[in-house]
Amino acid sequence: MSSFYALVIGAGSVIAQATIQKFEADPNCLGVFAVSRSLPKISTESKALWLESDYSEESIHQICKRLALYAGKITKVLICNGMLHDESIMPERKLEEISASQLEAVFHVNTVIPMLWLSKLLPIIQGEQPTQVALFSARIGSISDNKTGGWYSYRASKAALNMLIQTSSVEYARRAKNVKLIAFHPGTTDTPLSKPFQRAVPQDKLFTAEFVATQLLSIMEGITMDNKAAYLDWNNQTIEW
Ligand SMILES: NC(=O)c1ccc[n+]([C@@H]2O[C@H](COP(=O)([O-])OP(=O)(O)OC[C@H]3O[C@@H](n4cnc5c(N)ncnc54)[C@H](OP(=O)(O)O)[C@@H]3O)[C@@H](O)[C@H]2O)c1
Repeated sequence: MSSFYALVIGAGSVIAQATIQKFEADPNCLGVFAVSRSLPKISTESKALWLESDYSEESIHQICKRLALYAGKITKVLICNGMLHDESIMPERKLEEISASQLEAVFHVNTVIPMLWLSKLLPIIQGEQPTQVALFSARIGSISDNKTGGWYSYRASKAALNMLIQTSSVEYARRAKNVKLIAFHPGTTDTPLSKPFQRAVPQDKLFTAEFVATQLLSIMEGITMDNKAAYLDWNNQTIEW
């Protein structure tokens, strides 16, 4: 593999951090741009350059201007942002729990923010080198696989993200032929996002972030560059859209 730079957006994510550690240990990785709402508390000697962002359009635009210097050299991109719950939000179990504010908040983090990056990153990743962009989706966003219902805002926001990835891949195929877009399902992983829902998960189905990071980087490395979006799980298995 030739040398490369990585870009990790939503770098505060536990899975993102495990992936950054792997990039840092990889001699072919020349540097990691890590974008997050907050910078790490302790600065360590590392290959990672942390960039603070509130994910507004202006902030994304400014960061992309800085990254333009590395256009064609950033060949691994992860967009990790996702929200399932917070202090005032829990996944909806029934129609009576639907609210405009929850739908809007969850769509903003899970759908709007990743799409803004996909739009603004085009000139930076439009190069000669094979480049993979992994956007963190979820199996629950599969429309054809929806048997249990519920979790309206999270489910629909990931389904909408999948549609935006598919749609972008049509344009990327014309304008950035060396880019592969991947809608990635990490599996249930031990992070703050899944914490309240882990009790129902068998121990061998609750992955560590380190395991998922290893799986994802191996998938990105081996993937066929065919100008089509892929929807893949942690085990490199295709999920029906
Ligand atoms: N853990 C699982 O079981 C599981 C299963 C399926 C899919 N996923 C997906 O995997 C991705 C990574 O999640 P994780 O499990 O590593 O969770 P996590 O550790 O809780 O990370 C959450 C991520 O979402 C971003 N985020 C959270 N609230 C935000 C807000 N209000 N505005 C903007 N960004 C916000 C954070 O970005 P900052 O760095 O800027 O804070 C961070 O990247 C998510 O997209 C999630 O939906 C996770």
